[in-house]
Amino acid sequence: MVLGLGTGSTAAFVVARIAELLNSGQLKDIVGIPTSKRTQEQAASLGIPLSILDDYPRLDLAIDGADEVDPDLNLVKGRGGALLREKMVEAASDKFVVVVDDTKLVEGLGGSGLAMPVEVVQFCWKYNLVRLEGLFKEEGVEAKLRLDGDGKPYVTDNSNYIVDLYFKTPIKDALAAGKEISAFQGVVEHGLFLDMASTVIVAGKEGVEIKTK
Ligand code: A5P
Repeated sequence: MVLGLGTGSTAAFVVARIAELLNSGQLKDIVGIPTSKRTQEQAASLGIPLSILDDYPRLDLAIDGADEVDPDLNLVKGRGGALLREKMVEAASDKFVVVVDDTKLVEGLGGSGLAMPVEVVQFCWKYNLVRLEGLFKEEGVEAKLRLDGDGKPYVTDNSNYIVDLYFKTPIKDALAAGKEISAFQGVVEHGLFLDMASTVIVAGKEGVEIKTK
C-alpha cells in the first residue's frame, strides 16, 4: 500500500502508530509518501520505508489532520505550513482520511476566526497580501504575513512565504474563493481543501464519530 503521511500534531500520532504496527509485523509492504520535511524526518527516524510522488504518482490512502472541517467535509488546512505538499499528496490519493477533534468542526470555512493560509512566492509578497485582502471585502478579512519565532518571515518547505487570512465571517462561496485565490499570479496554493476528504474521524468527549461522504 502506498500511504500519504500527513503533517501536524495529530498526524504525528498516526505516523508513530504506523511505525509501531510495521515494527511488530502487523502491517507489511507499506511505502509512505511524506507531506513535509518534518514528517519525512519523523517517519525516517522510525524506520518507515519512504518514497516520493515522482515514483508513486497514485496513492491508495492518505491520512492527515485538519484545521477546520465543515458539514460537507470541506477543510481548511495548512496552519502547520505544509499545505502545498499536503494538497499534492492528498489529491493523488484514492482515499483521504482526516483525523480531528471536535474543536475543528465549523459551520462554514473560515468560521473559526483562525488563519486560512495562502502560500505565495517571496517576490512582492505584499502585493499579493493586499490583493488577497481585497478579494474578501464582503466577509471582512485581515491578511498577515506569517512570521517565525524570531519575527522573520516563515519560509515553507518549498522556500515560499505564507499569507494568513483571518475572516470576520465564514467564506460565502469557498469554491469560488479558491478559484479566485489560485488565479493570482504568485499564489502557489491555498489552504481550502474542497471535496477531497473521503472520511473524517472526529474525536469528542462522547467518543469517536466517523463521517463519510
Ligand atoms: C499542516 O500544514 C496542517 O495542514 C495540519 O494538518 C493541520 O494544521 C492540523 O494540525 P494539528 O493536527 O496539529 O491540529
